[in-house]
Amino acid sequence: MIKGNILIKNAAELVTCSGFKGKSGKEMSELHIIPDGAVVIEEGIIKAVGSTEEILITYNENSYGVIDALGKAVLPGFVDSHTHFVFGGYRAEEFSWRLRGDSYMEIMERGGGIINSVKATKEATREELFKAGKKRLDSMLSFGVTTVEGKSGYGLDYETELKQLEVMEEIDRVHPIDVIKTFLGAHAVPKEFKGKEDEFINKIIDEMLPDVVERQLAEFCDIFCEKNVFSVEQSRRLLTKAKKMGMKLKLHADEIVQLGGAELAAELGAVSADHLLQASDQGIEAMAKSGVVATLLPITAFSLKEHYARGRYMIDQGCAVALATDLNPGSCFSESIPLMIALATLYMKLSPEEAVTALTINGAAAVDRADQIGSIDVGKKGDIVILEFPSYKFMPYHVGVNTVEKVIKSGTIVWDKEMKNQE
Ligand code: NIG
Ligand code: FE
Repeated sequence: MIKGNILIKNAAELVTCSGFKGKSGKEMSELHIIPDGAVVIEEGIIKAVGSTEEILITYNENSYGVIDALGKAVLPGFVDSHTHFVFGGYRAEEFSWRLRGDSYMEIMERGGGIINSVKATKEATREELFKAGKKRLDSMLSFGVTTVEGKSGYGLDYETELKQLEVMEEIDRVHPIDVIKTFLGAHAVPKEFKGKEDEFINKIIDEMLPDVVERQLAEFCDIFCEKNVFSVEQSRRLLTKAKKMGMKLKLHADEIVQLGGAELAAELGAVSADHLLQASDQGIEAMAKSGVVATLLPITAFSLKEHYARGRYMIDQGCAVALATDLNPGSCFSESIPLMIALATLYMKLSPEEAVTALTINGAAAVDRADQIGSIDVGKKGDIVILEFPSYKFMPYHVGVNTVEKVIKSGTIVWDKEMKNQE
């Protein structure tokens, strides 16, 4: 079989999610399914999409590696558009404190939380970070993820922030999953800058951003815009500068307190605003109008025992909603796509169709790649997920269980339930 050349036929449902930009409001329900579908991938790129009958008239099965997807649903590879997958150490102890009733912000305010992971990440060698990060991506791949966004933010100093970004770059080179990098130098306030947050923002702008941009170490700039972390004004200042330097923007917005992060994301033309548990009606309206992708992270709300973001309302107001795991060592130590789908459908009231859109084409839009991935369309990357069931509807229905049977990255099988990791 030639690498990158595959023909998938007889799919019970070919769920194309067809489109080249994010989908908002009612469009999120349109999955553009082809019954008894087939797809042809050549040299890693999707060459043809149609019914099996049509495809087999034009394309000769002998020229491809053939996958018979009889009785199975076939979907675009999933895009996990918000994670912090490179970090040192763990914070299991904090999780048990939270179970006892301490809040995430209380733990952070007494010097724990993100700062704990910063310490462990500074101490970790590149090799340790590489090994742990790569292993986490292996697990994500088994859930059907073919593109992941990863953030720095466990350094808060030049050396460690860049170390995290470089490690992500190295992992990207060797792992089937594509990694999109985000610079999150403003993830927490280091102890020595407590009360001098403006100075820390200056430091990021003067000392870290120029090298990140020049060495193209990250495509996006993000900030934790939150009460007792960075204010709306500080966020505006950093992100405006990053944008001027050519970076695309993301925000951790309105997670714990309603600060106006969603409004700021709209004002600055951010690609996405993430979390949004407390986003105001005006903020949601502004995001819908300006086309900011609302990235919702239900496992974080679940782990923090907070109210879920208003996913249903956002879609009804015309937002483009994406779903992501937020894998990180603190608020959400989980890369489970099945758990995420369960929570989004059962508690955020997304329909199964909307959840699939949120994880595919809208995930792609959240990393500004909707023209290249996130749907089964001619010209896009041959990133495909085959389920072991005949319909995408089994994803929420088989609650919390992985329904993925095979993962194809750029036209090559990279994960198979039977054979596990193939690369
Ligand atoms: O997306 N909220 C801020 N950042 C992360 C948590 C990071 C951590 O706790 O280590 C988040 O939830
Ligand atoms: Fe996050």
